[in-house]
Amino acid sequence: MAWTHEQAQAVLAEQGQEHVLRFWSSLNSEERAVFLEELEQVDFRLVGRLIREWVLSEPPEERFSRIEPIPLIPKVAGDRPDAVEAREAGEEALRQGWVGLFLVAGGQGTRLGFEGPKGAYPIGPVSKKSLFAFHAEKIRNLQRRYGCVLPWYIMVSDANADATRAFFRSHGHFGLNPADIFFLKQRMMPCIDEKGRFMLAERGRLAMNPNGHGGCLPAMIENGVIADARRRGIRALSYFQVDNWAVKVADPYFIGYHFLRNAEMSSKNHWKNHVREAVGVHCRCDGEYRVIEYTELDRYPQLLEVDANGRMIHGAGNPAIHILSLDFVERVVRLYDSFPWHRAHKKIPYIDECGERVNPPKPNGYKFETFVFDALRFIRHEPVALEIARAGEYTPIKQFEGDNSVTSAWLRMAEYWAEWLDAAGSPVPRDDQGRPAVRIEISPEFALTQEEFLARAAGRVFPTDRDLYIDPEGNLLSAPAAQ
Ligand code: UTP
Repeated sequence: MAWTHEQAQAVLAEQGQEHVLRFWSSLNSEERAVFLEELEQVDFRLVGRLIREWVLSEPPEERFSRIEPIPLIPKVAGDRPDAVEAREAGEEALRQGWVGLFLVAGGQGTRLGFEGPKGAYPIGPVSKKSLFAFHAEKIRNLQRRYGCVLPWYIMVSDANADATRAFFRSHGHFGLNPADIFFLKQRMMPCIDEKGRFMLAERGRLAMNPNGHGGCLPAMIENGVIADARRRGIRALSYFQVDNWAVKVADPYFIGYHFLRNAEMSSKNHWKNHVREAVGVHCRCDGEYRVIEYTELDRYPQLLEVDANGRMIHGAGNPAIHILSLDFVERVVRLYDSFPWHRAHKKIPYIDECGERVNPPKPNGYKFETFVFDALRFIRHEPVALEIARAGEYTPIKQFEGDNSVTSAWLRMAEYWAEWLDAAGSPVPRDDQGRPAVRIEISPEFALTQEEFLARAAGRVFPTDRDLYIDPEGNLLSAPAAQ
């Protein structure tokens, strides 16, 4: 039975949040029903604790007496025996159908400011294909190559669930079998103002935010992902984020290390460009595996240290590419009450006491989120931490221009693909700063690696004096040459 107005009133009064019902009398019956349903979903015990500990008092600062660098498996190169063994084990796991894909795409994408789900962003510099389409083409390639089905679990949130589903439908699920695509919703958390009160987004709606990418862990259980994966014989999930255009989904090397070392949770890591780079640092703090956010570096000055040769000691940047074993997810979710929360001070639009919408000029409230990498602190033995090169692996899209942006991702991928074309005997012209002088795009369904590109291109020569797009079948679609 859904909550009644009286029940909502009683619970809200007990929590000191009854002000959110101040416009009740002006709501119609449908709005009332929606609002009651939303209120009933709130975990008041959790939110009450977060308000007490994080808003009404200053949260205690964590201190560590010992921070150690994480031992990294060196970048895969040549035919190093452990890498060959890992690749073979990963390929076998893929053929056996032990691997599923887990994409987190529930974020609000506020910095990019794109109307619609971030995954629908037309990232293809020539084709204008979306991030979702690129990831789907990678999946089609892997399914073809390993003769397997890679079920794709996609986490969305109230912020974008309907639009994401509609986008997949209107694009024919990108040629994938809809029976192997599974959308699930993460939970939402109420935004809290600086006095510890819930905020209204509308007269009959709370201001809410998705509960962070760490929300994928309980969401996997609550929405039957783990049960579905087990039914299909899956043992581990390849976790990736929608805004990493380059990410290698279900990378056989990574999967192989994960299975061979019997890992619970594995991570890829790239060596940071400099100590203050805006990426979390993977390390071990008083014996627990952690990722420390770049915003917290000043709290842990050890993380800024360099060795006698000037090399960073803690250079392991964590780009949020993981493998999670199903057993581990189940165990972490049983311990989820002790999972850490993070607080972000943000500008949160709200409805004021007169019912007027306010867009605050400066941060006015808090959003609470959990982060997936905090699951690392629950692992019981040494995790797999594989070092990767950024090229072809990590181009996050947070904004249009600047660091971690659309424009920097276009450039990084053009550089990466230009090397493939150079190697294929179609040298790409460079500008006076050594950057590709044309726009380049190669469908990951056609080729995921340079090796595959050379094999499939089979001696073809590509015109590189103009923008160039190689589609999933290897057809060349190029713009007219510049006059
Ligand atoms: P970010 O933390 O960069 O957030 O998410 P965002 O929503 O993309 O962008 P901003 O911060 O609002 O500008 C990294 C990845 O985690 C997912 C995002 O969809 C993205 O793939 N994510 C984030 C979720 O799935 N749920 C969340 O609650 C937060």
